[in-house]
Amino acid sequence: MVRDFSLFSSPGMAPTPNGDPHAAVACVHEGPPIFYSPSNTRDGRGTWVITRARDQRRVLQDTRTFSSHRSIFASALGEHWPVIPLELDPPTHGVFRALLDPLFSSKRVIALEPTIRERARALIDRIARERTSCDVMRDFALPFTVSVFLSFLGLSQRRSEVFVGWVSDLLHGNADKRTAAARSIVGFIDELADRRRRTPAFDFMTFVVQAEIDGRSLTEEEVRGIGVLFLVAGLDTVAAAIGFDMAYLARNPKDQELLRNEPDRVMLAVEELLRAYSTVQMIRVAARDIVFEGVPIRKGDYVSCATMFANRDPSEFECPETIDLARRGNHHTAFGYGPHLCIGAHLARREIVVGLREWLARIPTFRIKEGTAPITHGGHVFGIRDLILTWT
Ligand code: HEM
Repeated sequence: MVRDFSLFSSPGMAPTPNGDPHAAVACVHEGPPIFYSPSNTRDGRGTWVITRARDQRRVLQDTRTFSSHRSIFASALGEHWPVIPLELDPPTHGVFRALLDPLFSSKRVIALEPTIRERARALIDRIARERTSCDVMRDFALPFTVSVFLSFLGLSQRRSEVFVGWVSDLLHGNADKRTAAARSIVGFIDELADRRRRTPAFDFMTFVVQAEIDGRSLTEEEVRGIGVLFLVAGLDTVAAAIGFDMAYLARNPKDQELLRNEPDRVMLAVEELLRAYSTVQMIRVAARDIVFEGVPIRKGDYVSCATMFANRDPSEFECPETIDLARRGNHHTAFGYGPHLCIGAHLARREIVVGLREWLARIPTFRIKEGTAPITHGGHVFGIRDLILTWT
C-alpha cells in the first residue's frame, strides 16, 4: 500500500494544521502495519513506514537486516562520514557506546542539575520581570537547552545566541541556510577539537580528542562525527519536548494547576507527554532483501520507525489519544529502542522536568495568546517554531 506521509519529509518541514502534527497522523493505526511513502527522505527516495510498536521493535533490534549506516548530516554537505554512534552498526557501535555512555550516566546528570536549574531560573525570572507574554520557544526553550549544552561542553555562555541561530537555521531555514548552518557547526566542532588537542581542558571535547578505542586515538572524522551528533541531537529534541509540553499545559489549565500545586507529579507527567508528543522518527536502511509483514523490502530501501506512531499504538497503550498525566506502566519509545537507545535520555528528562517545574513556579496561569496558534512542523524531528503564551 502506498500513502503519502509527506509530513515526515525531511527537510520538508511544512507547518502542520492546528499546530498539532500528532493529531494529523493519528489515523495511521486505522491502516496497515506497513506502507510505502514515496516522499520521506532528504534524497527524494521513498520509505517503508512501520506503524505498529511491536514491528518497530523487531526492526530496531535486528541491526543485521536494518542498518543505521547512512551519512544524513554529511550528505547535506555533499560528504560521506557517519555521525557517531548513531550511524554505526554493531559491533563498532558498541565500542563507541562503551566509551561515551559514562559521560551521560544518571550520576553525571545529577551533578549537572544545579546548573540546569540556575539556567532555567535566570531565563524565566527575566521573562517574569519584564513581560506578560512571550514566544516560549525563542525566549525560553531554545536558549535554555543551548545554554545547558554549552555548560556541558564546557563552553562560554557568550556563544549562546550563535548556537540558537545555527540550530534554528538547521531546523527552519531554506536549503541554503541549512547547508550554511551545517557548515558552521562542522567548522566549529573541527576548530574546538583542534584547540582541545593543543590546550586540553576538563570538558567533553577534551575527553573525545584524548580518548582511545582498540588501542588507538580517534581519527579526525570520528571526533567530528561525535561532536556534530551531540550538538545536533541534544538541542532541538529537548526544545521541542518543552514546546509541546507547554502547548499542552496552555490548552489544559486544570492539568497546569495540578502540576503547579503538586510539582512532585511533574516527573510522571513528563513521561506521558514524551509518549503522547514523541518527536523522533528513526530511519534504517535494509541491508538485504526481506519480506516483512507480507511486503518485499529490497536491499537499500529506507525503513522508518516513527516514535509518534509506536507511542499511540492502541495495542500497546490503553486509550492512546487520551493524555493521562498519571499513566502508569508507560513503556514508551520516545528515546528509541534497542542498541541506539538515546544516550542523552537522563539529561533530556532532567532538563524537561526542571524546565517545567521552574516555569510553573514562576509564571502564573498561562494560555496561548488569542489570535495566535503554535506553528509546528513535521520532519525527522517534529517540533514547534513558535508558541506565543500570555498570562496576567
Ligand atoms: C527529549 C529529548 C530527546 C529525545 C526525544 C531523543 C530521542 C532519541 C531517539 C529516538 C534516539 C534513537 C535514534 C535511532 O535509533 O535512530 C536517540 C539517539 C541519540 N540521542 Fe537522543 N533524544 C533526546 C535528547 C538527547 C540529548 C539531550 C542528547 C545529548 C546529550 C542526545 C543524544 C543522542 C545520541 C548521541 C543518540 C545516538 C545513540 C546511538 O546511536 O547509540 N539525545 N535520541
